[in-house]
Amino acid sequence: MRCYEFAKVGDGYRLELRTRPDPVPAADRVVVRVRATSLNYRDLIHLQNKAGRDVSGRIPLSDGAGEVVAVGSDVTVVRVGDRVTANFFTAWERGRFDMKYHASALGGPGADGMLAELVDLPASALVPIPEYLSFEEAACLPCAAVTAWSALMDRGRLQKGDTVLALGTGGVSIFALQLGVAADCPVVVTSSSDEKLERAAKLGAANGINYRTHPDWEKEVHRLTGKHGVDHVVEVGGGGTLTKSLASVAAGGHVALIGVLTGFGPPQDSLFPLVSKNATLSGIYVGSRENFVAMNEFLTAHQIRPVIDRAFAFAEATAAFAHLESGSHFGKIVVRLP
Ligand SMILES: NC(=O)c1ccc[n+]([C@@H]2O[C@H](COP(=O)([O-])OP(=O)(O)OC[C@H]3O[C@@H](n4cnc5c(N)ncnc54)[C@H](OP(=O)(O)O)[C@@H]3O)[C@@H](O)[C@H]2O)c1
Repeated sequence: MRCYEFAKVGDGYRLELRTRPDPVPAADRVVVRVRATSLNYRDLIHLQNKAGRDVSGRIPLSDGAGEVVAVGSDVTVVRVGDRVTANFFTAWERGRFDMKYHASALGGPGADGMLAELVDLPASALVPIPEYLSFEEAACLPCAAVTAWSALMDRGRLQKGDTVLALGTGGVSIFALQLGVAADCPVVVTSSSDEKLERAAKLGAANGINYRTHPDWEKEVHRLTGKHGVDHVVEVGGGGTLTKSLASVAAGGHVALIGVLTGFGPPQDSLFPLVSKNATLSGIYVGSRENFVAMNEFLTAHQIRPVIDRAFAFAEATAAFAHLESGSHFGKIVVRLP
């Protein structure tokens, strides 16, 4: 079977197309024929070696969807022909996070990912694909959608009418917008682009703020919310945006710290606003299989479809990464398999 691998070049990596023997499942594992994958910013972090993780020889991408083509002798939870995705951390089935789960993150230093024709996965990590979703749509869910779900629903306990702030219009943020809108919550979206803000409005965003033309966007958040601030911030920027997110959050609100779009550096200012506002700061790292299944029930009930910016062919995987790096996308970028 054909797959891509991260190959070291200079300080970073490049994608190299390789051939490996077709996997044969062990007793508790299954082989899935991958039909579609999707990219996340994390995959770019790996390619560019921004986090210093050794992914040499690993198959990239945490996110994929396909059909089961072989099952191990002990597997009873899925059958050949089932349409499945897999949880980002294959070992995190439910409950609290444990540091031992890190090694099971697909497409990372400890485990091969989905950018392959066939993948070998533990049966316990598989998640059925909701019937109304295509393989391409389902391939968008494991990292970005589950992260938005954990941030807002699991850890944030989002209530109808709460205000939500989503930073930017990438994968996680567009899912946060869709989840918030489905839960009857006003969502404020920031973006570098007025055109993207118009697209967010069509998806139901209550307000948009261009963070280029409004560098003090936290002031706009206050203006738009009648000085209340937002009840939830989906914080994908990291140290470079956290100070403004803390200024944007309402008293008693929740900031879900997810991303590193501004890098891995520290916040620019004091964290004291968390104290004075009695606010909560949660670190979010995707979610458990149980979270994924709960999210799929919600997506199905609201018939939410992932927003796919563009789908690339398997042979164009490198171009798909370049498109992600350009930041011109809105929502998710997909790579299809034959
Ligand atoms: N902890 C976790 O579990 C987890 C899971 C998923 C992702 N993440 C992290 O979350 C972040 C987003 O991931 P993603 O896959 O959704 O990324 P993505 O699809 O590549 O989204 C990037 C978008 O974010 C916006 N953006 C970039 N810099 C920004 C800034 N300084 N302020 C506000 N918005 C900015 C841009 O939107 P506009 O063009 O509209 O400006 C850009 O297109 C990444 O740092 C990723 O590593 C973490």
